[in-house]
Amino acid sequence: MKEHRKTITYKIYQSSEELEKADKDLLQEARQVISKAYAPYSGYRVGAALLLENGKIFKANNQENVAFPSGMCAERIAIYYAHANEPGSKIKTIAIAAKADKFTIKNPISPCGACRQAIAEYEIKQGTPIRIILSADENEIIMLEGIEQLLPFLFRAEELKNY
Ligand code: THU
Repeated sequence: MKEHRKTITYKIYQSSEELEKADKDLLQEARQVISKAYAPYSGYRVGAALLLENGKIFKANNQENVAFPSGMCAERIAIYYAHANEPGSKIKTIAIAAKADKFTIKNPISPCGACRQAIAEYEIKQGTPIRIILSADENEIIMLEGIEQLLPFLFRAEELKNY
């Protein structure tokens, strides 16, 4: 037996002012779409904005349902929306922001497992990393250069493509 270690790498910015302009603008788009989230059950509103290589931006927010599992996170709606409309254009960056009705979100939001898997699908398909920007109410912002930084040991089954 030999113990192995995998490390993840991420950057922390103290404020959106430190981001490069395209990232700062994308985060602003994610923040703008938060207020339209449909989150009557959790009061937790999330906005996601995707920048494609062709320059287009797709935005979405979380959509909840009285049958809870039927709802969906902002990130997956945004990435499916983008790929449904622009399947040939690579995704460069996804920015994610959140606001809760009744409390302050102190730490940058981190996508759930299902959303990480959805991001992984398109990153593997396009063959280039999808940059991920995570933010909170407070200033601190986390930036990751690709889904493997959030989902190490991700499920890759190239063989399944032969079916
Ligand atoms: N949610 C997202 O939209 N994205 C995340 O990364 C985490 C959670 C949504 C799902 C649900 O509508 C609400 O936030 C509370 O979990």
